[in-house]
Amino acid sequence: MMIKSAEFVKSSSKWQECPEPTLPEYAFIGRSNVGKSSLINAMMNKKDLAKTSQTPGKTQLINHFLINEDWYLTDLPGYGYAKVSKTQRKDFEKLISNYILNRRNLVNLFILVDSRHTPQKIDLEFMEWCGESGVPFSIIFTKTDKLKPNAILKNVEIYKQKLLESWEELPEIFATSAEKKEGCDEVLSTITQTNLYLRENKVDFSKN
Ligand code: GTP
Ligand code: MG
Repeated sequence: MMIKSAEFVKSSSKWQECPEPTLPEYAFIGRSNVGKSSLINAMMNKKDLAKTSQTPGKTQLINHFLINEDWYLTDLPGYGYAKVSKTQRKDFEKLISNYILNRRNLVNLFILVDSRHTPQKIDLEFMEWCGESGVPFSIIFTKTDKLKPNAILKNVEIYKQKLLESWEELPEIFATSAEKKEGCDEVLSTITQTNLYLRENKVDFSKN
């Protein structure tokens, strides 16, 4: 996909404040610091579209970006960030789950996981919740530049085997590096195809 324009639209502290749900939307979610904001920047070929930080917990609101004046890309706060109070964490979880369950133009969630780690309970539980809630998702492995090609393949395989313990089918899986801008085209191409499908089938989000 050619990125002709990528603009920040707004930050929202609840789903009711998000932009009118008239265009297809794709959201990035995952643990704090996994690289959600960095990958959005890499995909859009912009340095500071989404704010990134070495300190976890940088993104605290729902951030909407309008791409090619045609679809939304959403940067969500990370889950599982330890250094906040229990109440604050619960509030974040509520913000995220309410957004996911109520955002009627949300077409697909991209769940980001660090390619260096073995499957983490918090991510598997979140995927489980998506399944139970009927929320479609794909998995994006991040920071592959930190591993040798063999190690990436091995870790992806371990993840697949783990998923197959509880899932009959595997979701679509991507391996990416924001640093090296790898895997971005593959993610964008899936989004393009989905947008095309929605258009051909005249999907109208205003009626739901
Ligand atoms: P929160 O907003 O806090 O939830 O974090 P996030 O998931 O948006 O992560 P962010 O993009 O801010 O990146 C966190 C840290 O990881 C930053 O220091 C990034 O530079 C680094 N990082 C992100 N992607 C990559 C990557 O592909 N390769 C490498 N080497 N570092 C990365
Ligand atoms: Mg972020």
